[in-house]
Amino acid sequence: MAKFPKDFLWGGATAANQYEGGYNEGNKALTIADVTTSGSHTEPRRIGWVIPETGETGVYKMEFGKPVQFPQGAIPCVMEGEYYPSHQATDFYHHYKEDIALMAEMGFKTFRMSIAWPRIYPDLESEQPNEEGLQFYDDVFDELKKYNIEPLVTMAHFEIPIDLVMKYGGWANRKVVDLFVKFSTTIMNRYKGKVKYWLTFNEINMMEHMQISTIGLMQVNDQLKAEAAYHQFLASALTVKAAREIDPEMQVGMMLAYQPIYGETCDPYDQLLALKIAQEQFLWYADVQVGGQYPNYKLKEYERNGVQLDIRDGELELLKQYACDFLSFSCYGSGVQGTHENGGKASGNGLSGRVNPYLESNAWGWATDPECLRIALNQLYDRYHKPLWIVENGIGWADVLEEDGSVHDDYRISYLQKNIKSMRDAINLDGIPLMGYTMWGCIDLVSAGTGEMKKRYGFVYVDMDDEGKGTLKRYKKDSFYWYKKCIESDGEDLD
Ligand code: BG6
Repeated sequence: MAKFPKDFLWGGATAANQYEGGYNEGNKALTIADVTTSGSHTEPRRIGWVIPETGETGVYKMEFGKPVQFPQGAIPCVMEGEYYPSHQATDFYHHYKEDIALMAEMGFKTFRMSIAWPRIYPDLESEQPNEEGLQFYDDVFDELKKYNIEPLVTMAHFEIPIDLVMKYGGWANRKVVDLFVKFSTTIMNRYKGKVKYWLTFNEINMMEHMQISTIGLMQVNDQLKAEAAYHQFLASALTVKAAREIDPEMQVGMMLAYQPIYGETCDPYDQLLALKIAQEQFLWYADVQVGGQYPNYKLKEYERNGVQLDIRDGELELLKQYACDFLSFSCYGSGVQGTHENGGKASGNGLSGRVNPYLESNAWGWATDPECLRIALNQLYDRYHKPLWIVENGIGWADVLEEDGSVHDDYRISYLQKNIKSMRDAINLDGIPLMGYTMWGCIDLVSAGTGEMKKRYGFVYVDMDDEGKGTLKRYKKDSFYWYKKCIESDGEDLD
């Protein structure tokens, strides 16, 4: 029977703004997530705004995929009487010991989490980091160490400090590179010996779809987006450089939202469209951050659109020399693109293409496609020849907590059985060097897309609803026991 390698890093993934809570404790400053309301499958999340000069107020709806456009002069603000799910989230801030014990019970070898930048630098310009924030993560890493769980730390997971937007206008401003590198250097120095694996920007390519929470832009155009991306690439390279100096054992990965794109028919135009979409939406980001250089197709596109980058001496060499050590990615499914009239519009993580009639979807319209993991792993390894790590995959479901405290999530078990088998085939049949797998939202947390609690991913149910009501008590779902068995058998026993 096929197995996973002994040193395979099994675990789960989370992000501070969706899981941590304690939004104003320990001197933490606000992030964009802290002023984003919840929404639903049909209603977008919202951000209130005010124009200080005129006093005019309004509400911006975060419609996925629609370029961000706040009115000129507007700044984000908290709206009276609204519920903000990031404020408490599922309260890892106060439950980390209990949660880490649950992860250990499942046999986790790794835990992916993010550090909230404004917990470390509430004042972005200060030379003095916030000791209370640093101490919190120290405590978390010490707790993980107790159980030999290796942290995998994302430095920026949709945790855009609000000051970054208000004072600097987001990542289109070159000064932000220095601010970020100060932050990344601080945390790498502090956690040297405790954290080996780092990721710079969660789903860097999500800036295609939600600019406010990834690059902190309130208005966008091609030029600004290109500048913001260039600045994040520079910050990534400088972070890799710093990591090598701080501790050569450290490894810094890029994090890409990826989905294989299928052409709807064998019409060559459908295939060309699928290729172009994959390049535009995903691959060019990895070509730079992992491959170390801008691909020609992107440079040509910039030329056509009149986009110009302010590239200074030595910077292109920096991107090349300090490309990321490994490529991590999220993969929730695949996409379909076609040029012919037909097919409905699909939902999914980021890009919505056509509906794939061969696949089944969940209540939020996300189609599951286990084989796409094997396809993705092959595509990405063949292109970059760097170790890979699947750091997000999973299924959101409106789980039901039974009277006796059980949760029967057989749909999740069946999803995992197929997805894990697909990875196992990629390792054993195709020879892909896959470092690990961290299932998304291993303990229930707030959905990034909708802000709901109802869209649950975890092995552990957290008693909290869409209005923020609940005891925060943790309950093991059936998948908890299944994953434990899977890890114990090195992925051999998937029954
Ligand atoms: C990824 C993000 O895009 O998808 C996570 O990195 C997010 O933050 C996950 O939670 C699942 O999306 P959603 O909208 O179901 O929470």
